[in-house]
Amino acid sequence: MKTARATAHSNIALCKYWGKRVDAPAELNLPATGSLSLTLDALWTETVIEPAGADRFELDGVTHVDDAARKVFAHLDRMWRAAGRDGARPHAHVRSTNHLPTAAGLASSASGFAALTMAAAAAFGAELDRTRLSALARMGSGSAARSIWGGFVRLDRGDRPDGEDCVARSLLPADHWDVRLVVVQTTAGKKPIGSTAGMERSRTTSPYYDAWVDGAPQDLDRAEAALVARDLPTLGAVVEHSCFKMHACMLASSPPFTYWNGTTVEVMRAVWASRAAGLDGFVTIDAGPHVKVLCTAQTAATWVQQLGALPGVVAVQTCAPGPDAAAEVIA
Ligand code: PMV
Repeated sequence: MKTARATAHSNIALCKYWGKRVDAPAELNLPATGSLSLTLDALWTETVIEPAGADRFELDGVTHVDDAARKVFAHLDRMWRAAGRDGARPHAHVRSTNHLPTAAGLASSASGFAALTMAAAAAFGAELDRTRLSALARMGSGSAARSIWGGFVRLDRGDRPDGEDCVARSLLPADHWDVRLVVVQTTAGKKPIGSTAGMERSRTTSPYYDAWVDGAPQDLDRAEAALVARDLPTLGAVVEHSCFKMHACMLASSPPFTYWNGTTVEVMRAVWASRAAGLDGFVTIDAGPHVKVLCTAQTAATWVQQLGALPGVVAVQTCAPGPDAAAEVIA
């Protein structure tokens, strides 16, 4: 194996993925809903993989010996097999740096597994196209499948039990539309429940789960059409509908759960109030307490100023559409 370095940018789902298919092997990690995302320039992961005497995973300078490390090594095994290499996988030292807050609902798993996939493919000499790399990244984390591409990305659910028709693709490049995503960070407590467990609880107990899954294809098609037309009010309406159907599904689970805190709700209400007063911006929230606002480049600074002044908001960051994931062999 070689030493390789990769970068991958995080993404925000404009149409969400929540729930896993149960008619296919769990290892494939197939989503119950397709999703549509925007890759973000300012939030990204850099990963270096080099040969070593023993497996080691270091994140932001700290060596991990936990579940996160086990997932990383399992992904390296998967990548070694995908590279068609015989024999035992060589031990590797994986060093990742997150240029974003980890495990706070800012999709560090998306950029993390996308960067790991790209770096491992380069280190192991795997000749794989981006579609295949995306399918491999998905097995590490569903949202990572989308971070292989920059710009605007669609991941279709597919129907086949082998998952071969569950593929992500670039819809439009980053320069198609100069939108912004204003990331409003509220105080990050510990997550009440991990995303995989939360999806399972929603699937098995929420009476809204089937409605959520059934409505997803229509949201995706509407969002794609609005994106092509650069129609922010139409896209924004779909973005909010997809987001709040997902969160309603969580709230209607038994026992109920939510990733929101009080500030999450105050920020949401502030966005809706400003929009009613004429400022275009649309809310989306993932499996975490932060609020993201989709808006135009022209209004981003006003949103930052207004939302940054709200009590409980700890940081506000603006992201533009970001680039493809990339990798290079460095030794
Ligand atoms: O890929 P995961 O397991 O981190 O799940 C992502 C789920 C959401 O962020 C809530 C939605 C999405 O499509 O990114």
